[in-house]
Amino acid sequence: MEQTTTVQLSESLIKEMIHVAIEQLANAYVPYSGFRVGAALLAKNGTMYTGCNIENAAYTPTNCAERTAFFKAVSEGVRQFDAICIVGGKDGVLTEYAAPCGVCRQVMMEFCNPDTFQIILAVSEENYDVFTLRQLLPEGFGPNNLA
Ligand code: THU
Repeated sequence: MEQTTTVQLSESLIKEMIHVAIEQLANAYVPYSGFRVGAALLAKNGTMYTGCNIENAAYTPTNCAERTAFFKAVSEGVRQFDAICIVGGKDGVLTEYAAPCGVCRQVMMEFCNPDTFQIILAVSEENYDVFTLRQLLPEGFGPNNLA
């Protein structure tokens, strides 16, 4: 069942998500770009799924942090989500927002209501912005287009 209301994320929950996303930077496997990305995906059931980017010598098999988190959750049967926090930077230094790539936005579109799913981009626990998926993927193509 698709979520139709935007969950009000408390300040403390947002800070916790940012903290968890930052922790994931240590696990990023980035021998080629050195660009570390961490994600914390909040499922509707309250579970936080984590992700980091995982690069590959053949380059294209690289998996972004956001998709790592989504695929961990979906592979465990979880498909309802409220929000994701994403952080990233060269050598793990956070200087600006690491906005999700187009492929990751499309994966979010598969499992989330674009009007209610929230994307938190952060450079620290104090410095962040919250966007809806609709804002980052206007006129997105999703499951409803095939219904
Ligand atoms: N990356 C992510 O993990 N998420 C994004 O949405 C953007 C890009 C990763 C992929 C690659 O390992 C590195 O950042 C540089 O592109």
